[in-house]
Amino acid sequence: MTDAIAIERLEKTYASGFQALKPVDLAVRRGEIFALLGPNGAGKTTLISIVCGIVNPTGGRVLVEGHDILRQARVTRALIGLVPQELTTDSFESVIATVTFSRGLFGKPADPAHIERVLRDLSLWDKRDTQIRYLSGGMKRRVLIAKALSHEPKILFLDEPTAGVDVELRRDMWEIVRDLKRKGVTVVLTTHYIQEAEEMADRIGVMSRGELLVVDEKANLMRRLGRKTLILRLAEPLAALPPALSAYDLTLTEEGRTLTHAYAATEDRPPVGPLLADLGSAGVVVGDVETRQSSLEDIFVDLVHGGDAPDSAPTTQEAAA
Ligand SMILES: Nc1ncnc2c1ncn2[C@@H]1O[C@H](COP(=O)(O)OP(=O)(O)OP(=O)(O)O)[C@@H](O)[C@H]1O
Ligand SMILES: [Mg+2]
Repeated sequence: MTDAIAIERLEKTYASGFQALKPVDLAVRRGEIFALLGPNGAGKTTLISIVCGIVNPTGGRVLVEGHDILRQARVTRALIGLVPQELTTDSFESVIATVTFSRGLFGKPADPAHIERVLRDLSLWDKRDTQIRYLSGGMKRRVLIAKALSHEPKILFLDEPTAGVDVELRRDMWEIVRDLKRKGVTVVLTTHYIQEAEEMADRIGVMSRGELLVVDEKANLMRRLGRKTLILRLAEPLAALPPALSAYDLTLTEEGRTLTHAYAATEDRPPVGPLLADLGSAGVVVGDVETRQSSLEDIFVDLVHGGDAPDSAPTTQEAAA
């Protein structure tokens, strides 16, 4: 099956000489929700802008539904809808005029029924005659989505759709995106809210400094790169780790009140039984045992900064052996 988007060795060096994209390869599958994560300046908007035909690549190629974005630009642009990162919405035009005009830009014949459906889906129908400059920030974002959907694209790009948006609207957005997926639309979104990617995405790509560091199914990513920490809460604080326990990779934390052992999520849990027995022989009494699993956010921080991921809230509470 043809991928929705096939990106091969894509590069971008801006006129300033800054290389925003090192060669990037990525295939976005039809019908999936793909989340692109990365810190500020990673190259997410650059990548999206190239696929959408707004920025010219300096190397590589991109196929949209099998069509080359440079040689068949008219075809590929019509297949794509873009909700840009920046809001440019001080317009004097009404909502309905703006969205109707957007459809016309793609050379699609007028279809008032479609425009009505889009505006109703986005709860904008009641505001259809309002000038855009009088809408709230959240409503303006909805208008951007309506514009992007006006010409019935097969692929929708959402560049930080929920930046600065309240919790309720964020949840609405998620529902809108899921609904689009149900209708067969491929969605590529960027976000700084890891929870959003965790909630929505089928697959996740992490970018940093113009490179795509990993691309994987969300669940695989958690399994492959996640880490677990075994935490032993001690009945009495310890001043130092007893030498008899040096064979175990343990760290004394929380002012001697806990012993921790970090291991890869793909590894088996360390042998808790023998460990507890050895602790007992050394006179250390363990009050409680739990296991923590690193979150997607920990994995992200780890990937991007190459540092140690902090432990997240406990997700599993496992009894000692
Ligand atoms: N027109 C331009 N000329 C020169 N450099 C640019 C231009 N546009 C972007 N850049 C640089 O390219 C890099 C990638 O920018 P880009 O906007 O793609 O990042 P991003 O991942 O979308 O970041 P953010 O999360 O802040 O939106 C940045 O260092 C940026 O300063
Ligand atoms: Mg950006």
